[in-house]
Amino acid sequence: MDKNGKQPINKAHKIPDKELLPGLYIHWPYCVSKCPYCDFNSHVRQVFDERQYVEAICRELDYLLSLRGGEGDRKPVLGSIFFGGGTPSLMQPQTVGALLDFVRSRFSLSADVEITLEANPSSVEAARFEALGEAGINRVSLGVQALHDEALQVLGRAHGVDEALAAIALAQQSFARSSFDLIYGRHGQQLADWRSELKRGIDLSDGHLSLYQLTIEQGTQYKNLYDRGELKLPSDDRSVRFFEETRKICEDAGLHAYEISNYAALGEQSRHNLVYWRYGPYMGVGPGAHGRILRGQQRLASAAIRSPKRWIAQVGELGHGFESMEQLTQSEMADEMLLMGMRLTRGIDLNQLKLICNRAIKPQKIDELVRAGLCEISATKDFLRASDRGVRVLNQLVEQLSGALQPV
Ligand SMILES: C[S@@+](CC[C@H](N)C(=O)[O-])C[C@H]1O[C@@H](n2cnc3c(N)ncnc32)[C@H](O)[C@@H]1O
Ligand code: SF4
Repeated sequence: MDKNGKQPINKAHKIPDKELLPGLYIHWPYCVSKCPYCDFNSHVRQVFDERQYVEAICRELDYLLSLRGGEGDRKPVLGSIFFGGGTPSLMQPQTVGALLDFVRSRFSLSADVEITLEANPSSVEAARFEALGEAGINRVSLGVQALHDEALQVLGRAHGVDEALAAIALAQQSFARSSFDLIYGRHGQQLADWRSELKRGIDLSDGHLSLYQLTIEQGTQYKNLYDRGELKLPSDDRSVRFFEETRKICEDAGLHAYEISNYAALGEQSRHNLVYWRYGPYMGVGPGAHGRILRGQQRLASAAIRSPKRWIAQVGELGHGFESMEQLTQSEMADEMLLMGMRLTRGIDLNQLKLICNRAIKPQKIDELVRAGLCEISATKDFLRASDRGVRVLNQLVEQLSGALQPV
């Protein structure tokens, strides 16, 4: 720890880059109901054909594998698999098992592979945890969102606090690792209430929490309520206080912020999410999924059609549901690496920026931002990160850094 009680730069992560292997993201696009704040690619359907979905995912994955080429018969290695949504815990455990069997037939999984599934904490879904564990899931991320019943109602959630508590306990029994999400800065929430809710959350947690400040997204019911003045969020200054208190309370409890919204005991970070933020390669399959796929020195950006119906139809026709698959330029890669990496507490790895993107940030710009107290650089000059002040203006900071990129 330094004198401010912060993890020293470079020490806030115990998972070295070389241990982070490529990831695979599988999107499940359905939910029981649409939450009023959510703009994720999620659709309400009571009936869906899981067999057809599995077949389409497998075909799309084979299509992606056919793009790689040049590796002979060697199976590509995966270090993490992530079932995200939507609500993937609505899938039958056999469906998850069938997908994992297929993945094992095409990839070699690392000995300590992390296989996460996002779950809603309803009793129906919690009843499937044991079977999901048997199917191969070893980490679950639960959408608890709040530890007050009234708040859960305002968030339009289908579960109550008691159900969430039972799901947390069952998740901790059924999976080697688990995490849960809470949303703060909610309508009318007082800082003192959040402090006690967070401390309760920490007591219940198992080494990892995702703590998201409520954001108003375009096209959501919350956006309409907010525009009509019926939803009150904290002012900018109070949002900063919420954020800073959250960091401090977690840090005091040994849960280090390793990204803007993610907190973990050392070694308990989500490996899959670290792949995104450290700009590692990953494949993404399913409606609306994105990927960053390595082909030799090239990096392909893939994006699939968001509508499940149109995605399935195109997979049937073409063998994949992608609507774009573009080779990124080095300059685009550098911008992405900054955008993702500056979210991390350790910041971006300037050597990787050179190695992967052939880019450096002008030293004058780094000096200027460090002198302004917005950035910090490691003693070895390998990592650049946002300071506590810099995190508050992260978007502008990333824009400035991006404007100061130059080829090396
Ligand atoms: C894909 S969603 C959720 C997965 C799961 N279906 C659920 O609802 O629990 C991932 C997380 O994003 C967070 N989230 C979604 N929309 C948000 C918003 N507008 N503001 C803050 N957090 C949000 C929630 O905490 C949610 O658990
Ligand atoms: S927050 Fe989760 S459950 Fe709610 S609509 Fe979004 S993806 Fe579905």
